[in-house]
Parts: sequence; structure tokens; C-alpha cells
Amino acid sequence: MSKYSFPEEFLWGGAIAANQAEGAYREDGKGLSTVDVIPHGINRMKVKLGLEEDLTLKDDEFYPSHESIDFYHHYKEDIALLAEMGFKVFRTSIAWTRIFPNGDDSTPNAAGIKFYKDLFLECKKYNIEPLVTLCHFDVPMELVNKYGSWKSREMIGFFEKYARCCFEEFDGLVKYWLTFNEINILIHSPFSGAGLYFKEGENKDQVKYQAAHHMLVASALVTKIAHEQNPENKVGCMLAGGDFYPYSCDPRDVWMAHAKDRENLFFIDVQARGKYPSYSKRVFAEKEVNIVMEENDLDILKNTVDFISFSYYASRCASKDMENQTEANVVKSIKNPHLEVSEWGWAIDPLGLRITMNTLYDRYEKPLFIVENGLGAKDTIEEDGSINDDYRIDYLRQHIMEMKEAMEDGVELLGYTSWGCIDLVAASTGEMSKRYGFIYVDKQDDGTGTLERKRKKSFYWYKKVIETNGECLI
Ligand code: BG6
Repeated sequence: MSKYSFPEEFLWGGAIAANQAEGAYREDGKGLSTVDVIPHGINRMKVKLGLEEDLTLKDDEFYPSHESIDFYHHYKEDIALLAEMGFKVFRTSIAWTRIFPNGDDSTPNAAGIKFYKDLFLECKKYNIEPLVTLCHFDVPMELVNKYGSWKSREMIGFFEKYARCCFEEFDGLVKYWLTFNEINILIHSPFSGAGLYFKEGENKDQVKYQAAHHMLVASALVTKIAHEQNPENKVGCMLAGGDFYPYSCDPRDVWMAHAKDRENLFFIDVQARGKYPSYSKRVFAEKEVNIVMEENDLDILKNTVDFISFSYYASRCASKDMENQTEANVVKSIKNPHLEVSEWGWAIDPLGLRITMNTLYDRYEKPLFIVENGLGAKDTIEEDGSINDDYRIDYLRQHIMEMKEAMEDGVELLGYTSWGCIDLVAASTGEMSKRYGFIYVDKQDDGTGTLERKRKKSFYWYKKVIETNGECLI
């Protein structure tokens, strides 16, 4: 049993993203997105990191996003299962390319709008509040090819048009919005984060931070538009979270951890405080980054977000010499000898969630929303058909307990959506076998499988957690 109670209105639920679940990658007029050209297998990382210039589809590659778990055709069945668990909130994203297939089209694609309207209505049918990300790692490929994606200032206008269309079309159906998923990931994985790839000899930092500026202006602009469209709208930023710990008390390790945190928090500093942080001047000078801005940009940035959302899978660790590195969520980290790791090497650190929540709340004093957390693990189907994922229950239980501790520390938390509530394609590796769900999907790494859905043991556990508003965690 939990020591404390959760507020009545606490939003329990789960999260997915269009690009990792929907499939139907060219159906009903959908255009090609960045994620659709990221293959599974050995060439995946090169593309994700922006080191591949040839972004055409190849016959001998397998692209997991093309079918994913076919949520596009299964959403009714899937939402019914989430409702059975008692979900109060469901986080998903809109695929930009379903609404504007090329990104720069003059009119939106009616079939794309219809799909999302139907989806949000389906959620409403069960009193599930949608929480919607406008851009979750999927820029229209046409914008990459024609404009170089977020390298170009023109992207601001395309994104504004797209966001405005969503706010108008889904007005009254969606009230919680996120602009960019894990905006800081563009630093670590530039193609998946922002559709960026590099040419020989380019200053990568210049490209990344100029693109970041365009995204930050776009994010602030659409935040303003969302508020004008409907004062009920609440807009959040989204951070790939997890504090850096210093590897030792050597002040140089402490400083490195501080600098690494700032690298990620820089984005949220702008989105939550409405201006570039003072430390950015020196960082940019040292990286030889010169941001080209327009006169009005600094005023637009003053449109700050209403809440801070973040993902948390693992804490990170830094030392003066970043050797012996591991990786969690593409953010490089030193291996922490005090922590166990998942099958994919991601550190398991429930207390780190409490620490991260306190850092974020102290820094911004805005409500937080945990929009991703979970354990990617291999599941086994027993002979009787059951899936006994006690490891997942254990991970989630410990994190929920620490989340509650953070709330007792004074942190305001709107809700919790665990990641991949239904199994989906892993963003880092493209695997299906890295499963996060309460619901198993029969789909394998090579694309085979019947797509049948099955309740895991964690399904019944989470149902109880929600039913008792977090009181019963056993
Ligand atoms: C976050 C992303 O980076 O972590 C999700 O927002 C992603 O899209 C999740 O799926 C977990 O990472 P992975 O690689 O295990 O899918």
C-alpha cells in the first residue's frame, strides 16, 4: 500500500507515439516522415545520427514504422483495452504527414483529420483525456529534402500552419498539448530528433543550435496560438529527463554533471522561462555557434509553457573524463556502479525520478507531467498463454512510490503516463522485442506476427493501481 494518497483528479494513463504504433505509413494520403526512412538493423544509427545523406527507401532494408503494431486499424480495440484498465489519460501524437503530407501543402488532408477526430472521439467515449504531442520524432520528409528540415527558418511557418490546423480541428476534443517530444534529443540524435543531417565539414553544433532556435520560436509561437484558440488549452514542453550525478565528489566531476544537465535543460529553460539562459552565451562562444535571429524572436519566446512534461527512464552519470560510457535514451552517460541495469543497459534508478522531479520543480515552479516511464524488457508467453511480467510491475511500482515521495516533497504533478502502454516499436533500436506494454502485441523484430493483442499480468496490476488511485501498488 502507498504511504500517501494521490489527488482525486490525478491523471493515470499511458503513452504511445504515432510513428511507433500506427503503421499505415502511406495510407489515406499520408506523406513520408523521417521515421519512415530509418531502417532496422546495422544502418539504423547512422541515419538517426544524421550521418547518412541518402535517405531514399531501399528494397533490402526493413522499416519498422511502416506497419508497426497497426494501431491505425486497431485503435478501437486498443482504446477499449486501455479503458478496461481505467485510463484517465492517453498520450499519443499526431503524425504531421497525415495532416500535411508534404509539410508545405496549401490545404490539409481531410482523411488525416478524420482519423484523429475519430480517435479522440473514441477516447472521449470512455472519458479518457487525450494528451497530444504535435511532433514526436516525425518531420515530413519533403521538408527535409526541400528545406533541410529545421535548419531552415521557413519551418516555423509550416509548423505554425500545422499546429493551428490541429488546434482548430480538434478544439474541444484535446486540451493538453505538447509541442515537440524530447526536444533536447535533437542534440544527441539529430535526424530522429529534428530531421537534421550533416554535410562534410559542417559545424554540427551550429546546425543543431540554429535548428533548436527555430524549433523554440515555433514552439513558443504555437503555444500563444493554442491559448488564443481556446483559453482552456494547456501546452507543455517535453524533456528527455534524468539528472546527471557526478561520478565522484571531485569538483571537476561535479562541474561536468552540472554542464551536462544544462545541455539538456537549456531547451526547457527557454520554453519555461521565456528567454535564453545566461550560461548559453559562453557555451555558444566555445562551440563557435552564432544564432541568426529575427528582431521579433526574443518577444515570441516570452510565450512560455503551462506545464513541464518529461520522460524518465534512468538517471545519468558524468565525470571529468567521460570514459566507460553507456547510453540510456541516446544520452551518453558513465556507468553508475551503484545501479542495476535493464536488459538494454539502461540504469534502473527509482530514486532518480524523485531527484529529477525535485530539480525540475525547484527550477521552474510549474506543474510537472510524467509522460514516459517504463521498462523495456523481453516477455515470454507461458504454455497457458499468460505473460508474467513481474519485472515490469516491480519497476513501475518502485517509480510510482518515488513519484509519490516527490509529491510529498511539494512537487505539483498533473499525471503519469507510462511509456508504451501497448507494445510498440522501440525508438532507439527499432525492435519489437523491447517491450514496455501492459498489452502484448504479437509482432516480432522481423515484422512477422498476427498483431493479436493479449493482456499481460501488469495489465491487471495497473488496473488495480488506477482503481485505487495509487493506494494499492502490490
Ligand atoms: C523516448 C521516446 O526517447 O524513449 C520514445 O520519446 C521512446 O519515443 C522511448 O520509445 C523509449 O525508448 P526506446 O528506444 O526503448 O523505444
